[in-house]
Formats: sequence, C-alpha cells, structure tokens
Amino acid sequence: MADLGLKGDAGFVPQVIALCNSDALVNSGDAVSFDVMFGGQSCLAFAIRYDGKAYAYLNRCSHVPMEMDYQPNRFFDLTGHWLICATHGATYNPRTGECQGGPCRGKLIKIETSERDGVVHWHTDPQTQTVNF
Ligand code: FES
Repeated sequence: MADLGLKGDAGFVPQVIALCNSDALVNSGDAVSFDVMFGGQSCLAFAIRYDGKAYAYLNRCSHVPMEMDYQPNRFFDLTGHWLICATHGATYNPRTGECQGGPCRGKLIKIETSERDGVVHWHTDPQTQTVNF
C-alpha cells in the first residue's frame, strides 16, 4: 500500500470508502458495523442514522475501552435518541458522540461519513484507516 502521508495531518488526503446502501440505515435503528485500523489496532466501528443523517463512531466506550452494543448492532436506547453502552449505561449524543449521561470519560471517537447516490461512505483520517487483509 502506498504511503499516504499518515505521520501527520499536513497533506493528509482522506479515502472515501463505500460502507452500505443508504436504506440499510434507518432512523434510530440498527447499526452497520465495519472494521477499521485505529491507531494501528484493528477495531470495530459502527454507522447509524439519526434524524435523517448518517453518523459513524468507533465501537469503543469512553468509560472503559469496550465494545458498546448490547446485542449485535443495537446501540440506541429505548427512546431512540441516545446511544447507550451496554456495560455500565453511559449514554452519548448520536449527532456528536458527546457524553449525555452515565460514567463517560470524554466522547465517542467520530468517523466522518458522507452519503451520495444512495450509498453511505466513511472517510479515513490520520488515526482511522482501512484494514488490509
Ligand atoms: S464500559 Fe461503557 S459505560 Fe462502562
């Protein structure tokens, strides 16, 4: 793989990676999970839709770095307005990843997304890269 200049932010050009069809993400519904390399480690990430817009985060609670879903791809609480960690109940704003309540220590790590021609994409950043098998 080519050196993408990932040592620093200067000159970084994000890759835009197709993730799923737009209709796979329903408002406050199940997530679509995907694999990323974050800081050189293989991690799970997830995309959800809230109030019409797609968002993606690393699947890592800010309290303890554990995966958050209480059932596979279930991240929304019963109200459908907050993302919740199954372990100790930390809740996060689905738009920003910021802590809303519970034992958070900071916010979720956001992954940029875009949507075009009925397809949701995620964007690499200096920390978050594709997994090369
Ligand atoms: S690990 Fe998520 S709330 Fe404790």
